[in-house]
Amino acid sequence: MCGIVGYIGYDDSKEILLKGLEKLEYRGYDSAGIAVMSKEDVYISKVKGRIAQLREAVDGNVHATLGIGHTRWATHGPPSQENAHPHQSKSGRFSIVHNGVIENYLEVRDEYLSGIELKSQTDTEIVVQLIEVLYNEMNDVSAAFRKAVELLKGSYAIALIDAEDAETIYIAKNKSPLLVGLGDGFNVVASDSMAMLQVTDQYLELMDKETVLLRRERVEIQKLDGTVVEREPFTAELNESDIEKGTYPHFMLKEIDEQPLVLRRIIQEYQDENNEIKLDPDVRQAMKDCDRIYIIAAGTSYHAGLIGKQFLEKFAQIPVEVHVASEFSYNMPLLSEKPLFVYISQSGETADSRAVLVQTKELGHPALTITNVPGSTLSREADYTLHLHAGPEIAVASTKAYTAQMAVLAILGVDTANAKGIELDFDPMQELAIVANAMEAMADQKDVFEDLAREFLATTRNCFFIGRSIDYYVGIEGALKLKEISYIQAEGFAGGELKHGTIALIEEGTPVIALATQAGVNDSIRGNVQEVIARGANACVISMKGLDKSGDSFVLPQVHEILTPIVSVLPLQLISYYAALHRNCDVDKPRNLAKSVTVE
Ligand code: F6R
Repeated sequence: MCGIVGYIGYDDSKEILLKGLEKLEYRGYDSAGIAVMSKEDVYISKVKGRIAQLREAVDGNVHATLGIGHTRWATHGPPSQENAHPHQSKSGRFSIVHNGVIENYLEVRDEYLSGIELKSQTDTEIVVQLIEVLYNEMNDVSAAFRKAVELLKGSYAIALIDAEDAETIYIAKNKSPLLVGLGDGFNVVASDSMAMLQVTDQYLELMDKETVLLRRERVEIQKLDGTVVEREPFTAELNESDIEKGTYPHFMLKEIDEQPLVLRRIIQEYQDENNEIKLDPDVRQAMKDCDRIYIIAAGTSYHAGLIGKQFLEKFAQIPVEVHVASEFSYNMPLLSEKPLFVYISQSGETADSRAVLVQTKELGHPALTITNVPGSTLSREADYTLHLHAGPEIAVASTKAYTAQMAVLAILGVDTANAKGIELDFDPMQELAIVANAMEAMADQKDVFEDLAREFLATTRNCFFIGRSIDYYVGIEGALKLKEISYIQAEGFAGGELKHGTIALIEEGTPVIALATQAGVNDSIRGNVQEVIARGANACVISMKGLDKSGDSFVLPQVHEILTPIVSVLPLQLISYYAALHRNCDVDKPRNLAKSVTVE
C-alpha cells in the first residue's frame, strides 16, 4: 500500500527518492509524488500513475539535498494528482507525506481548520493544515508537530518538511511501519527498508507514538512529551540482490521457482544437529498449554490457515478454528478456556489481522505470529513469532510465502504432537524434502503449464476450481491467484457443493480445474468432473501419481498425502502466471491490489 521515503544529506535527493519509490512499487499504488528542498525553496511534483511517469515529470534541473516521497494507494478520495502526496499547508510552508488512516480527520477539520480551503479530499491534508495552525499559535515547529500528532487518532507514518528549515525532516509513527536509516553524512526514512537498501543497511526501529528529528548528521527520537529516546541501530538482513529480478521476466516467476529452496531453508532453520525439530521453547509451551487454536489471517494466508488446521488437528490433536481477520470482530466466537491466537501474515502488517490482535491482547489471550517479516507490527506485538524464512516476496500475488506458511504449520503441528507425547509415523523434515524435490521437478516443466493456460484460459471470461477435502482449500487459493493477476472471474468450490447451485453456471466451454490428490475422495471428485463435462465444461484434471487416470492434464509427483497442498498449488500458480501473461496483464503489480494491506 502507501509507501514513504525521505532523504537528508549532501547528494541529489530527487534521484535517491525516485529510486526508493521504485523499490516500493511492488506494494501497490495509484499515484506518486516528491517534495524536495534546496536553499529554502520547495519543489513538488506529483502524478496519477506510475513512478516512470513521475520520473518524466520531475524537473531534472532541480538540485536538492533534502526531500520526501510517497506512493499512494487511495483511501480518502480517488486516485488523482490533487490527492497524491505530498500535500502542503495553506501558506505552502509545510509539506507532508503520510501512510495510514486518520480516523478523526473530520473532527480535526471541524475543530481546528475552519476557514481553510482544502485542496484535496485526503485525511493527510488535514494533518499538514493542522500543523500549520498549531505552529501559528505555538511558534515552535517541533512542538507544533508533536502536538498535532497527539491530536490524531488512527494509524500514521508521517514525514514533514518545513520550507524555512533545510536541516530537518520531521517524522512520526503510530501503527504504520516506518524506519530510520543511518548513513555517513546523510540519514533516510522509509516505510520499508527495501526502499533505502541502495544507500544503507543500518536502521533504527521506531515505536508507536514516537517522533523523530532527522538531520544530516544526527537523529533524535522523541516521545510525544519531548523526552529523548536512545536506541541502538540494527543491520537489515536483506541485501540489494535479494530484491532484484535477476534474469527472470517477473518477480512472481522467480518466487515460484524459489519455493524448493525456501522449503530447504525452512528444514535447515527448524532442525537441530540431532535432526530434531528446533523451535522456540516458549512457542512449544504455548502450544501445549492451549485447549483451542484460533487462526486469524486474510487472503492467501487465510487459505494457508485452512490447510494449517488440518496439520494441527491431525498431528497435534488440538481443535482449530480458522477466521477471516476482517470478519472476526463482528462475529467473535465463544472462546475456549485457554485459547491461543495464531496470526498468519506474510507481511506482518495486515491491518485487519492487527485489529484482531489488539482486541485479543486486550482480552489477555496469548498470540503467536507466523510471518515472513520478523520485526513487523504483528511480530512485535504478539507474544511469540515463527519466521517463514521465505526471503522478500515482491510480487503482489503471494506464492513462496504461502507454501512456506504451510510448511511451518506442518512442523509446528508435529512438534506439538511430539511435545504432547503423541506418536506419529511421520518425519516432517524428510517429507518436506520430498516435497521440495517434487516442486523442483514441476518447475522444470513450465511449458506444460503455459500450454494448459493457453488451452483452458486464453479467452475465457470465467473459470472454476473444484476439489474435495484439502484439495478444496488449494482450489480456492488457485482461484484467488488466477483472479488477482489475470482478472479472470474465478471461484473455488467443494466438489460436492456444485450440484447445490454452482453447476448452473457451467456452460459449453467453461473451464473447470479439478484437483484429485486425495485417495479417499478420488472417486467422488472424478464423479464431479464427469458432471461438469456432461454439461459442456472444459475439464483440466490435476491428479497425484498413483491416483491418476488417462486423460488427466497433469500428474503431480507423489508426496505424502497430507502435504499435497504444498505441491498441488504450484501448477495453479504457474497456470495463473501464464494466463496473466497471455492476457498482457501486469503480473507483478495487478490493478487495485497492494502487497501489504495496512488499512482495515
Ligand atoms: C494474495 C495475497 C493476499 C494476502 C493478504 C494477506 O496473493 O497476497 O491475499 O495474502 O492480503 O496478507 P499478509 O499475508 O501479508 O497478511
